[in-house]
Amino acid sequence: MQVLVTGGAGYIGSHTVKALRAKGHDVWIYDNLVYGHKQAVPQDRLLVGNLAEIDRLDHFFVTHSIDAVIHFAAYASVGESVHNPSKYYLNNVHDTLGLLELLRKHHIHRVVFSSSCAVYGIPPKTPITEDMPKNPINPYGRTKLMIEQALDDYAQAYEWGYASLRYFNAAGASRDGEIGEDHRNEGHLIPLAILAAMGQKPPLQIFGTDYPTPDGTCIRDYIHVEDLALAHVMALEKIEAGTHLNLNLGMGKGYSVREVITTVEAVSGRQVPCVEAARRIGDPAELVADPTQAMQILGWQPRYTDLAEIIQTAWKWHSTHPHGFASQ
Ligand SMILES: NC(=O)c1ccc[n+]([C@@H]2O[C@H](COP(=O)([O-])OP(=O)(O)OC[C@H]3O[C@@H](n4cnc5c(N)ncnc54)[C@H](O)[C@@H]3O)[C@@H](O)[C@H]2O)c1
Repeated sequence: MQVLVTGGAGYIGSHTVKALRAKGHDVWIYDNLVYGHKQAVPQDRLLVGNLAEIDRLDHFFVTHSIDAVIHFAAYASVGESVHNPSKYYLNNVHDTLGLLELLRKHHIHRVVFSSSCAVYGIPPKTPITEDMPKNPINPYGRTKLMIEQALDDYAQAYEWGYASLRYFNAAGASRDGEIGEDHRNEGHLIPLAILAAMGQKPPLQIFGTDYPTPDGTCIRDYIHVEDLALAHVMALEKIEAGTHLNLNLGMGKGYSVREVITTVEAVSGRQVPCVEAARRIGDPAELVADPTQAMQILGWQPRYTDLAEIIQTAWKWHSTHPHGFASQ
């Protein structure tokens, strides 16, 4: 298939581009490199541009016969979305709707969308199943839910096939060590713990030690980025006109912040300097996916089922790329 991957130079996008190419798909990447890295993708396949540049994208669709789009391009910081919601609604909703309009115009009816467990807000229980209430508690989560709903409406009305994939916490790096996680303003626990252990970042802040969990810290579901990438390839190959999929992608197992820290220490052989801090507003105690539907419908199975294995790949990437892609 000829596939356009928006945001394909970002963390999850670049791993998905690699997985798509390994399966023989013909891939183009559209990314403005605001957060992505040109070194993360084959440069002869990278178009540097913004979603808002409708004419440019329009020209691309006129000159390329694209079968499907995987849409990663978005802003993805929960905290920032609270302080600057306009940035999120414009990019994640307005400019995404512009993309959907172009897909309609060019009769491209197959879409895989990066959604998030943030659409659930604070779930009534865990593990979380897809039918649980969607009550996002921040602008970021609301932007994801809005696009899920728009896609569902477009799919009903225009006979599209789509898969909205609700990721839990993406983690790790490619097993071959070629690409990994390099977010500007990193906010994810595993890279922050590793970079703190390497002395590249300040001591790790543990937000909340009084949650109703066995060790008092938050529990999250970490899913290896290559497992996420594989699920995108499988979803892409599964969808056809009339396919409506909303699927959780997680390992189905939760680890606490303290478990992540001790695992980083065991894998790296270094101490993770930490400071305890107050809870952050809106951080649920526990978020763990029930990924059964993705397994049954896509035939997908996470290959990384152990936190240490995930962290080993992240450690390999960070220890060989202490300054991320700038180390290359
Ligand atoms: N990382 C996670 O754990 C996680 C969890 C749930 C959902 N998601 C979603 O997955 C997607 C990818 O996340 P990521 O961690 O790879 O983030 P990322 O920031 O590494 O990747 C996003 C990419 O999109 C590009 N981009 C953003 N706005 C753009 C625009 N207007 N035009 C062109 N390119 C644009 C950025 O430059 C970047 O390369 C996002 O939609 C995010 O909301 C991520």
